[in-house]
Amino acid sequence: MGKRVILVTGTPCVGKTSVARSLTSKIDALYVNLTELAVRENLTLGRDEKRGSIIIDEAHMKRKLEEIIKNCDKNSVVVDCHYAASIVSTKLVTHVFVLRRDPVELRKLMEQRGFSNRKLWENLASEILDVCLVEALNFHDEEKVCELNVTGKSVEEVVEEILSVIEGRKKCLIGIVDWLGKLEKENLLDEYLKF
Ligand SMILES: Nc1ncnc2c1ncn2[C@@H]1O[C@H](COP(=O)(O)OP(=O)(O)O)[C@@H](O)[C@H]1O
Ligand SMILES: [Mg+2]
Repeated sequence: MGKRVILVTGTPCVGKTSVARSLTSKIDALYVNLTELAVRENLTLGRDEKRGSIIIDEAHMKRKLEEIIKNCDKNSVVVDCHYAASIVSTKLVTHVFVLRRDPVELRKLMEQRGFSNRKLWENLASEILDVCLVEALNFHDEEKVCELNVTGKSVEEVVEEILSVIEGRKKCLIGIVDWLGKLEKENLLDEYLKF
């Protein structure tokens, strides 16, 4: 049997790293954080000064990742990535989990983490407009993509849901949240979509 390659994606601060690390320890997998990998292996094309982030050398990264997946001695690999689900070769990926968090809760976590105003509103807009989900669906087969609403849930609860899906006890679903509709109902849309 081929290796299980599980992508954990979503807007910054949604909880990817916490969930991916906990999942990794539960299933004895290899954990790969793409931002750390890019810096460590020098897979960058420079810095995006406006956003204060690095620009990934995607082609190079894709090759490096393939090599890591093929050569590792674990049966599962958990990939923690906020950008470009496209960076992992489609044929290798077995599951894509898109973590979703209510923008009101996400904003609080971003504030606690000290996000700059620009970064905060830009990322909140991405969450509201389903950017990570759309990107995952653009590159991977729909049946591999699974959205999880992590709002109000502990890391353990989210990991349990992921395990249920992987083990076939729970169905993989998409289209489970509607932040636009929710914010509109709560009269918060203008405030949250100002970017
Ligand atoms: N399920 C959760 N419930 C509450 N807070 C969480 C949860 N998961 C993560 N956090 C907190 O949210 C912040 C962002 O989490 P992190 O895992 O680093 O997200 P990401 O990797 O998506 O940026 C951290 O301060 C973390 O402690
Ligand atoms: Mg992270």
